[in-house]
Amino acid sequence: MKVAIVGATKGMGRSLSRLMAARQDALAVLGRDAEGLQRSAADLRERGASSVATALCDLQHPETFGPALTAAKEALGGLDAVVITAGLFGTQEALESDLELARRVLTVNHAHTILLCEHARQALMASGGGTLCVFSSVAGDRGRKPVGLYGSTKAGLSHYLESLDHRYRSQGLVTVCVKPGFVKTSMTEGLKPPPFAGEPDAVAKRVLRAMDRGTPVVYAPWIWGWIMLVIKQLPRAVMRRVGF
Ligand SMILES: NC(=O)c1ccc[n+]([C@@H]2O[C@H](COP(=O)([O-])OP(=O)(O)OC[C@H]3O[C@@H](n4cnc5c(N)ncnc54)[C@H](OP(=O)(O)O)[C@@H]3O)[C@@H](O)[C@H]2O)c1
Repeated sequence: MKVAIVGATKGMGRSLSRLMAARQDALAVLGRDAEGLQRSAADLRERGASSVATALCDLQHPETFGPALTAAKEALGGLDAVVITAGLFGTQEALESDLELARRVLTVNHAHTILLCEHARQALMASGGGTLCVFSSVAGDRGRKPVGLYGSTKAGLSHYLESLDHRYRSQGLVTVCVKPGFVKTSMTEGLKPPPFAGEPDAVAKRVLRAMDRGTPVVYAPWIWGWIMLVIKQLPRAVMRRVGF
């Protein structure tokens, strides 16, 4: 595959791009930090990627989206998939007490990620289709006390991705919405891992399988699919009482 990936420098994006490199995919790593991108590119070449390009793409700056995807497409000689794992997190307490941080997280995770998806949709469909794989979260499945603000960004993103899948799958655009539960990455460093916390490498394997199969929604680790099935059924009166 020829894949552009935004977020390959850390966490689940790094694990996923390493799996792709090991099967000799051609990769374009897109991100905001030129040095980090070069480090990732060297690592991915070492791990077997058939070619690796880099381009600057900052989720805080939508004007970088079009040029980054064009550069990726040109460097790879086409595009089969775009993966977006990049995102920001803040605890509910941090976001409630720092509205500038809240603005940044709301903008990056929701409006700007969706705009980037629109650029990716156009880039993929211009050459007949492909796979758009985007990391949302279980936090978007239900309004919950500890992740109200962050969760709202992922709820909007999941909603958008579902509509994209309904609208364009018949025209060749396969949308894969990834909903991780708690995964031990730099994003969750310092937070107490709950039961069933996942590892990024295991999540990446599950995501790559979903991309290969064109699965529209994938929970990772898998048990979060069952957990959220229960949580989605709980009455509001119960949700108001519990801390989950
Ligand atoms: N970890 C979890 O428990 C969890 C749970 C549910 C959902 N998720 C979602 O899964 C995705 C991946 O999470 P992760 O835990 O792997 O995160 P991570 O380890 O913190 O990595 C985040 C990635 O996003 C990139 N990024 C951040 N801001 C950016 C910007 N403005 N422009 C471009 N790239 C930017 C980072 O690049 P730099 O190297 O430049 O920082 C890094 O590559 C995120 O969307 C997250 O919301 C995570």
